[in-house]
Amino acid sequence: MKVGALEEAFPGETRVAVTPASAAHIVKLGHQVVVQAGAGSASGFSDADYLKAGATIKGSAADLVSAVDVVVKVRQPTEAEIACLKADQTLISFFYPGQNADLLQKAKEKGVTAVAMDMVPRISRAQKMDALSSMANIAGYRAVIEAANNFGRFFTGQVTAAGKVAPAKVLVIGAGVAGLAAIGAARGLGAIVRAFDVRPEVAEQIESMGGEFLFLDFSDSQDGAATGGYAAPSSPEFRAKQLELFRAQAPEVDIVITTALIPGRDAPKLWTADMVAAMKSGSVIVDLAAERGGNCDLTVPDEKIVTENGVTIVGYTDFPSRMGAQASELYANNIRHFIADLTPGKDGVINHNMEDDVIRGATVTRDGAITFPPPSPKIAAIAAQKPKEKPKELSLAEKRAKESADFRAQTRSQFTLLGIGALLVLVVGLYAPPSFLGHFIVFVLACFVGFQVIWNVSHSLHTPLMAVTNAISGIVILGALLQIGLGSSWVVALSAASVLIATINIVGGFLVTRRMLAMFQKS
Ligand SMILES: NC(=O)c1ccc[n+]([C@@H]2O[C@H](COP(=O)([O-])OP(=O)(O)OC[C@H]3O[C@@H](n4cnc5c(N)ncnc54)[C@H](O)[C@@H]3O)[C@@H](O)[C@H]2O)c1
Repeated sequence: MKVGALEEAFPGETRVAVTPASAAHIVKLGHQVVVQAGAGSASGFSDADYLKAGATIKGSAADLVSAVDVVVKVRQPTEAEIACLKADQTLISFFYPGQNADLLQKAKEKGVTAVAMDMVPRISRAQKMDALSSMANIAGYRAVIEAANNFGRFFTGQVTAAGKVAPAKVLVIGAGVAGLAAIGAARGLGAIVRAFDVRPEVAEQIESMGGEFLFLDFSDSQDGAATGGYAAPSSPEFRAKQLELFRAQAPEVDIVITTALIPGRDAPKLWTADMVAAMKSGSVIVDLAAERGGNCDLTVPDEKIVTENGVTIVGYTDFPSRMGAQASELYANNIRHFIADLTPGKDGVINHNMEDDVIRGATVTRDGAITFPPPSPKIAAIAAQKPKEKPKELSLAEKRAKESADFRAQTRSQFTLLGIGALLVLVVGLYAPPSFLGHFIVFVLACFVGFQVIWNVSHSLHTPLMAVTNAISGIVILGALLQIGLGSSWVVALSAASVLIATINIVGGFLVTRRMLAMFQKS
């Protein structure tokens, strides 16, 4: 099949859906790759690079579309682009079918198979195709770079001859993919980072990125697992508490990066005008939710404004595009992995398997029908926690009955063991010399007592127990040393073996004990 990458028509868009590196991978799948002339130039890839990777170049979009079976691009298609497509062609790009009913209808009428990269289900297997996450990661990182660019100070604290500089304080609201990337980038630059999310389960992720989770003591907190990892609208009481928390942070923080989104809704307003007014002059707000109305009351989408009290509010909606080379590389990888899933035989033949959760989830039109919304995937994005089974509470009578049954079973097993031991001693006694029998009985009793003592020790106490057995090993070595000079080769061999085994026990015991003690040492 022929896979063709269009040049993006959207003004200012620098990304491209196929890079030279991804073209080489697609060629390995048995496809031919065609790229529109100049499609990669805004992200730093020349036509010559594509030719080297085994792709061919077509001069115009119309030429390219008429020559290929699969059209790949980044932004959602324009109506004109859909009009150029032929029936039975496949289009792979962002599509946002929920917000673009007309476009969906047009794609259906044309009979094209439309694959929406924004609809790839967020299940583990599909992570390599998750373009939303790739782009959110870039947006989070770029938000910090934009903030640093507009913030007239260091992020990191410094002590210099000219004076002491306090580290910048960054507040990240919403700790999804973009928020976590922002926390990582801001920490990397040396800032103190605080973060908040309605889903308390992200606290650990925030902390692992070096941020401090702002905890809101509220019984009605959300369980993200119940909503597939996404947030649901908060209750008015929760929202009031949340705003109270932010209001207290406003005069303190230098940078606010907001990323809070709720699927299928406008962005929640979380940074109100009075919070902006309470911020220090020179502070920066970067609103990553600007495209969906913004988390800040004063955000102007696609613009950067400075308020009367000197706070810069960045409302750009094209953060991934501002890092064209990186964004193209990741998006092109997502696309080539999707094409790999569509080409299971690696033979250049597309098998659009609608039984596959990922392919089905992302396909929004096929065979002249709209296939959006897809049925929910068989595997949930984030598995809901199974309720833990509570151990059954036993009544007093049941407890007593269980205890006496346990005691009976234990006694029975002990008597059986004793019986077997006695029988063995009898058998040995019938044949062995009397001098041996004395030692043998002591040996059997030692085994029995040792077994009884150690068997019931809980696992957590096995390590200290090993340390104690060192003392016993010492006695064994002493005994062996007393016997080793008796002359008989048997005695020498057995003594040597017992010295060896006891030494292993002693050295091992010391090593394990050292490790155990190290676990409790502070540094
Ligand atoms: N393949 C996968 O398994 C996979 C891939 C990507 C994401 N995910 C999961 O999905 C989650 C959400 O991903 P996303 O980044 O696309 O989310 P998103 O862009 O929809 O939302 C961003 C964040 O804003 C938070 N938020 C919403 N309302 C808020 C409010 N009022 N106050 C504070 N925060 C608020 C959300 O909880 C979310 O963490 C991730 O954290 C992750 O657990 C899973």
